[in-house]
Amino acid sequence: MSEVMSRTWAQQVLEEHRELRKKKDRLREYLQKPRPEAGTTGAHTWAAELARQLVALHDELFRHFRFEDEGGMVEEIRTRHPRATVDVERLVGEHPEMLRDIRKLMNEVLTYSEGRAPEDPSLRYRVTALLNRLERHECEEDCMIHDLELLDLGLGD
Ligand SMILES: [Fe+2]
Repeated sequence: MSEVMSRTWAQQVLEEHRELRKKKDRLREYLQKPRPEAGTTGAHTWAAELARQLVALHDELFRHFRFEDEGGMVEEIRTRHPRATVDVERLVGEHPEMLRDIRKLMNEVLTYSEGRAPEDPSLRYRVTALLNRLERHECEEDCMIHDLELLDLGLGD
């Protein structure tokens, strides 16, 4: 175990990505429903449920990012795989930006649920774009972890 990248944080990150993927999939499914006209009863229910799901995703992401930032991933990669430092720092650098984006969308969805049309009428598209971005981000982290594990196992050549 001492020669192979610590299993604790790597396994936890991969496991949390799987859980986050389930939440994102549920959200994608929900977004298949058409967005009702702002101000109608259906619009309120639709947006309230969307806001609830976005808040739940935000809270899980907040905890997940904090674990990635401080739970050993950055520190161990810097120490054991200095060549991957740039990659891991770029990836964790994206975390605050993604949290800001999801909070902005949450506010717009809440505005919509109050029956006032938000400035941008393409909420469903923007939530989907955010989910796609999160997915790419997590895939990059998954790949980085798997590549480093191979190097640790001596299969990197
Ligand atoms: Fe992650």
